[in-house]
Amino acid sequence: MRIFSGIRPTGGLHIGNYLGAIKQWIALQETNECIFCIVDLHAITTPYDPKELQKNILEATAIYLAAGIDPEKSIIFVQSEVKEHSELAWLLETITPMGELSRMTQFKEKSKQYKDYVNAGLFNYPVLMAGDILLYRAKAVPVGKDQEQHVELSRTIARKFNQKFGQIFPEPETILPKTGAKIMSLTDPKKKMSKSDDPKSCISLFDTPEDITKKIMSAETDSGKDVIYNVTKKPGISNLLTIYHLLTDTPIPEIEKQFKGKGYGDFKKALAKVVVDYLEPFRRKQKELQTRDVYVKDILEKGAERARTIAETTMKEVHEKMGLS
Ligand code: TYM
Repeated sequence: MRIFSGIRPTGGLHIGNYLGAIKQWIALQETNECIFCIVDLHAITTPYDPKELQKNILEATAIYLAAGIDPEKSIIFVQSEVKEHSELAWLLETITPMGELSRMTQFKEKSKQYKDYVNAGLFNYPVLMAGDILLYRAKAVPVGKDQEQHVELSRTIARKFNQKFGQIFPEPETILPKTGAKIMSLTDPKKKMSKSDDPKSCISLFDTPEDITKKIMSAETDSGKDVIYNVTKKPGISNLLTIYHLLTDTPIPEIEKQFKGKGYGDFKKALAKVVVDYLEPFRRKQKELQTRDVYVKDILEKGAERARTIAETTMKEVHEKMGLS
């Protein structure tokens, strides 16, 4: 099965991005044809610094590699290096109703957050995302919960295209992780962890051990003192338990048992150690790759070449179906 997914290189990728998306990719690449993109054209729809963008692209690549994505098995590339993404997005825009786009939760949230930056690119963002997926005729898209609505719209757009111009695209399915599809903020566990939020609310994959410990020790917890999973009554502790569970593969009831009679402080200290140890290879890989620019760029170039071959074939058919050639 062909699989496509991507991450915006906005800097500060966090443990939510890892647990919601990247961790699933590692297992999927073993038995599927996977394409993992660094979606820079999406990253420029919200305020950004052009001087930082290339650095953020290399940082995202380091994360993919540190997490265990194997460039021999999967295609890793940068979206703007394959021009067909922009072209297919334009063509799909001509069949996407504006009403559908104005219903998108992410557009509503981001246009509230960046009131002076509500651009047409931000509005059309989900069509570019549909283009990303359909360009490779991917059958499945492993993402976190917040992207489910966008994948759903990609299905609608695929269906519309097929009905209007003839069958080309499969309707892509979302793959959500069983647990961890929505990791919550450390400072406000009712909100999802987000890189555009307060840095204290997020654990970045390259945070220092000191920062990780500080952030976890000061994470918002709930009234009471028992380490028990209960999302409604104890959203803070439940979020931390989820992270502990996903990083250690220990079932949640077992973790509860382990910390029975101990307070939040002991649990947070243990969690901080788990996170620091788990993320050690990420920090190491980042340091190593900082001195191996040529190697990383070579991976991205080869990835783009492989992606282009698939993209060009799809676009040829799209042109024919739409009467453009
Ligand atoms: P982005 O860059 O915001 O996030 C990348 C991935 O991380 C997941 N994620 C989370 N999962 C669990 N808990 C969280 N708190 C959390 N925050 C983020 C996201 O669901 C996502 O899977 N539009 C996409 C990027 C994109 C894309 C695509 C994805 C562009 N084209 C095509 C799949 C297919 C985005 O902004 O993700």
